[in-house]
Amino acid sequence: MELEHEFERVVAADHRVEPRDWMPDGYRRTLIRQIAQHAHSEIIGMQPEGNWISRAPSLRRKAILLAKVQDEAGHGLYLYAAAETLGADREDLTAKLVEGRQKYSSIFNYPTLTFADVGVIGWLVDGAAIVNQVPLCRTSYGPYARAMIRVCKEESFHQRQGYELLLTMMRGTQAQRDMVQRSVDRWWWPSLMMFGPPDTESTNTEQSMKWRIKRHTNDELRQKFVDMTVPQAEKLGVTLPDPDLRWNAERGHHDFGEIDWAEFWQVVGGDGPCNAQRIAHRRKAHEDGAWVREAAAAYAAKKSGEEQVA
Ligand SMILES: [Fe+2]
Ligand SMILES: [Fe+2]
Repeated sequence: MELEHEFERVVAADHRVEPRDWMPDGYRRTLIRQIAQHAHSEIIGMQPEGNWISRAPSLRRKAILLAKVQDEAGHGLYLYAAAETLGADREDLTAKLVEGRQKYSSIFNYPTLTFADVGVIGWLVDGAAIVNQVPLCRTSYGPYARAMIRVCKEESFHQRQGYELLLTMMRGTQAQRDMVQRSVDRWWWPSLMMFGPPDTESTNTEQSMKWRIKRHTNDELRQKFVDMTVPQAEKLGVTLPDPDLRWNAERGHHDFGEIDWAEFWQVVGGDGPCNAQRIAHRRKAHEDGAWVREAAAAYAAKKSGEEQVA
């Protein structure tokens, strides 16, 4: 009882809950699920762009893309470490991912068909990730909040490298401009889906907001992203593929068209264009890495043996 009051006091005062503090089981479970899902998204998210590293059009583009994809691996590692502070087991989380028992962001189940997709992912997908993640820098669980501060700094580089690539392509040939437009056409709606189902159907939002894990609803964040992106699209010279998209002076926001939620649920449910491929690739990478984990464990055991002798 007293512990519960202390927890509620900490959350209400906007202080951070730390790993050794008492916390309700539901809070711990919700955080493990959310952080694991976030970590999986970072790791699976390396695949669509990793697909283009060997075919980058210049050394400069290749260096940028390599750095970006490596950053995503780092984000995954911070987040798995944050989940471990809650008592989660890393091996277990990986098993749940490759067995399809835990989710990752459905955006990464779409294919990258051209190099313009690298730019559009940076601009829209990393852009949406920033809108989602900036409020998480103030989330109530300390290790998650601190991980997000560093992640967000890197995400802003990701977004800018994408936008800069697109600006360059838009100054190029007509074929390059067409390539960018087609890529925007493919990624726009899935990017809006990144904020999750509408508030009326989001089962976890209310409790997560009470615990101050979440600070804004899915629809609020989606609106913020649309409002932020429209002027960027204009500057770039691309058309966002939504005939209903227009400024609403009364609301002070852009109105936009209905999202195809049937598609969203289909992809989340495992039946998107690349779900099977993403999981198979992750499983193989994990299996191929077994010798590295064994070698690291053997080295650690040898080291601790040496220390005991000394
Ligand atoms: Fe990331
Ligand atoms: Fe990123």
